[in-house]
Amino acid sequence: MSNRVSRREFLKFTGGVAAGAAALPTNSEAAAASADAGSTVLPYKAKPVGKAGGLAVNQAVTFTFPDASSPCALVKMGTPVPGGVGPNRDIVAYSTLCTHMGCPVAYDAGQKVFKCPCHFSMFDAEKGGQMICGQATENLPRVVLSYNAKDDAVTAVAIDGLLYGRQSNIL
Ligand code: FES
Repeated sequence: MSNRVSRREFLKFTGGVAAGAAALPTNSEAAAASADAGSTVLPYKAKPVGKAGGLAVNQAVTFTFPDASSPCALVKMGTPVPGGVGPNRDIVAYSTLCTHMGCPVAYDAGQKVFKCPCHFSMFDAEKGGQMICGQATENLPRVVLSYNAKDDAVTAVAIDGLLYGRQSNIL
């Protein structure tokens, strides 16, 4: 008996395998399916990060999100800003890992920007973490916040943008 397989038989077999594989989602596919296709906003387990009334204006409050290796900062800007939450829509939060090479950025209250000490990139806290200048080419990832007026709680719910050093924000 010949071991040769005709081209037709080969395609029939491999096509069946491919179709079977396509029917079984991988872990990453299953995780991605929970987020909107093409969206840069990925949801995580919600994490309370403070009470709006307890935040001092223009002072950064640090926290981690979505895990312990992802430092972030929350700032109550004092005036309404795009993406801001809270009674005055002025509370925003960002990852504090520079998008260039991952150095920790620091909040400069005088200029209302996050500054990177390594290669001097600057990111605008009032404009969604927009990159202003420096070596970075991406904005600071924005922590998407929600606000509950009943208990004045500010909660981190998602990340908009790719955290430095990760191929994906999906854990
Ligand atoms: S690591 Fe921030 S500018 Fe290079």
